[in-house]
Amino acid sequence: MQDRERWSTRTAFIFAAIGSAAGLGNAWRFPYMAAQNGGGAFLIPYFIALITAGIPLIITEFAIGHKFQAGAPIAFSRIKKGWESLGWLTITASFVIITYYSVIMAWVTDYLWYSLKTAWANAPKDFFFSKVLQISSGPDELGGFSIPVIIGLILAWGAIYWCIRNGVRSVGKVVKWTVPLPVIMLGILVIRALTLPGAIDGVNFYLNPDFSKLLEPKVWASAYGQVFFTLSLATGVMIAYASYLPKKSDITNNAFITVFANCGISFLAGFAVFGTMGYMAFTKGALVSEVAGNGGIGLAFWTYPEAISLLPFGSVIFSLVFFIMLFTLGIDSAFSLIESIVAGLVDKWGWNKKKVVRLTCLVGFIISLIYATKGGLYWLDIVDKYINNFGMVAIGLFEVIAIGWLYKSSKLRSYFNPISEIKLGRWYDVMIAVITPIVLGGILIWNIVQEIIDAINGKFYGGYPLWAIIVGGWLMLAVVIIMSIILGKIKSQNNLGRKAN
Ligand code: TRP
Repeated sequence: MQDRERWSTRTAFIFAAIGSAAGLGNAWRFPYMAAQNGGGAFLIPYFIALITAGIPLIITEFAIGHKFQAGAPIAFSRIKKGWESLGWLTITASFVIITYYSVIMAWVTDYLWYSLKTAWANAPKDFFFSKVLQISSGPDELGGFSIPVIIGLILAWGAIYWCIRNGVRSVGKVVKWTVPLPVIMLGILVIRALTLPGAIDGVNFYLNPDFSKLLEPKVWASAYGQVFFTLSLATGVMIAYASYLPKKSDITNNAFITVFANCGISFLAGFAVFGTMGYMAFTKGALVSEVAGNGGIGLAFWTYPEAISLLPFGSVIFSLVFFIMLFTLGIDSAFSLIESIVAGLVDKWGWNKKKVVRLTCLVGFIISLIYATKGGLYWLDIVDKYINNFGMVAIGLFEVIAIGWLYKSSKLRSYFNPISEIKLGRWYDVMIAVITPIVLGGILIWNIVQEIIDAINGKFYGGYPLWAIIVGGWLMLAVVIIMSIILGKIKSQNNLGRKAN
């Protein structure tokens, strides 16, 4: 067996981890979550969520990858015999995510082109739905492919493949660009936003603290959900990346750096987004709440583009800056998912890594074509909701149970403390074994109860028909689970309890 690949420097690893964590969600999810859940006061539950769940979990994933020197499946099989399938869950879930994440990247790619002529003119929402997606009437009508999306998709997958074609060596080189570049772009957008008239109203909307919100459980659940999502946990990415660290490597400090860089990017993004929204409200003589929309793809593809076309000068430049930022934020999150999948397959079967990369990208591309149809957005929406609200939370819960109870967090701590710059105390064990399982379990139960209540009332997510929810939600999750169990049961020379290498 060949020697395991290694990051060329510590910075390469840290940048790759930040690159995976800092994705589209930092730009379009965090700012809105803060604005809607108490503004500046939201930072309190957010920090508490970081300390009680986010940081212990990312340290755990780094430590697992480093200690067991393998991607998630083999790593979990070494933690506890029979638990390999948990690792495969992270891999199959990653596969589901990358198939639609790449389609969002396709739209972003298209918009790099449209930016050159601010092609959305004064009807950005209509442009997005009619010209780009050519949206069909509902999930039951796929309606053939949207040509612009297909072209974007080919380019996006080409870019993803190019970035990881030589494994961690090429990733190390790419993240030197794709991590600082969006931060620079963001800096430009923040300065532009804050020097516009009305910006201060936007910032007020973003951060004006409302401490009464802290009494609402929903706000706390949002904080925990966001922390879990933003750190790219439970997809096997951090495990795979840490498995390429050399023997003598810091764990805890690397995790702290990753977390603070990632969350700093989120916090900064709020100023760019809401500063600009403040300006849009000012020019339209409206309230910020009336123009800001709800974040998500709406922010990226119609609300922000509309605001940009209202700028006094340089609309083309600022659109380009915005979409380059989104592209560079997203691409390293996208290829980190491929890296996680490839690590899982190569570690188990010892296949040639380059071939597995090529094959994974090819299969990923083919499946992502579903979302490039005219009805694709509906399916993307359903799959995204169910894999995140149920799949990822459940996987995270199993992870902490495996480490906190079966393996014992104190044992893992006595592994990473001696090699790390920051030594963790017993609080880590309490978080992993007690607090994080309670929080993740609580969120999962809450989501399931919500789902049942909605079903009883005959209301389904997004107003979609029941059969679409069953296919894109429950059937998809069932396939993920069954595939993972099967993959975990297959024997290979690497999972018979011996160490690879
Ligand atoms: N962290 C990413 C973001 O904030 C989203 C994400 C969640 C992700 N899980 C992931 C990205 C796994 C890559 C891999 O946008």
